[in-house]
Amino acid sequence: MYFCAEQTNQFMTRLSVNINKVATLRNARGGNMPDLLQVATDCEKFGADGITVHPRPDERHIRRSDVLALRPLLRTEFNIEGYPSPEFKDLVLKVKPHQVTLVPDAPTQLTSNSGWDTKLNLNFLSEVLDEFNNAGVRTSVFVAAAPEMVEYAAKAGADRVELYTGPYAVAFAKDRDAAVAPFVEAAKVARSLGLGLNAGHDLNLTNLKFFLTNIPWVDEVSIGHALICDALYLGLERTIQEYKKQLV
Ligand code: PXP
Repeated sequence: MYFCAEQTNQFMTRLSVNINKVATLRNARGGNMPDLLQVATDCEKFGADGITVHPRPDERHIRRSDVLALRPLLRTEFNIEGYPSPEFKDLVLKVKPHQVTLVPDAPTQLTSNSGWDTKLNLNFLSEVLDEFNNAGVRTSVFVAAAPEMVEYAAKAGADRVELYTGPYAVAFAKDRDAAVAPFVEAAKVARSLGLGLNAGHDLNLTNLKFFLTNIPWVDEVSIGHALICDALYLGLERTIQEYKKQLV
């Protein structure tokens, strides 16, 4: 049985650190520096509530072998995100992480830049979600802040939706209230349907707190790029603590 934060009265949003960038840095030189497994366990030690990885078919950052090696090491929530290709599904069903997040990425895509059209892909998503739900893996579907997309994610059988916050981050600089408004609406729909709520993409130390103050029922944020960039200046431990301070 799945409980979202509100149902368990744990209002604090959780921070999942996406470590793909760490793998990208390691792969740039071929060796094992930085050591991805060490970084992942250090993130946990420094206060991360979870670790996210996004394996892609070309293994340009996280490799299949990384995912397998991380599983027994992690003590917090393990979230694997990606496009549900047959290879991805096999990996997730083998590893059985706490959560799988379905992302509509083309294999060569630089980074996720849109949510699913959950209406158009209802049958496909329903089948995939069924497999993961039957295996006891919590499911989340990456969607834009659009009520209809959230509704169809629920119809497909998702436990949660992850709101794609890229557009929020872009609009935030100009008008933060207007930027967050569609996300509040989509988040209300998710809540009314009993879906758990995640959010991610381009969240950072500047825009995160405002987002969560407006939508305090977010269960989890997944943050990679900005957090690793901040760590270059602040160090990983302090960076994770700074992000944790933004959680409401
Ligand atoms: N959520 C999803 C589904 C993603 O694909 C990504 C990027 O890999 C993130 C969250 C994290 O985004 P960012 O690296 O901008 O923090």
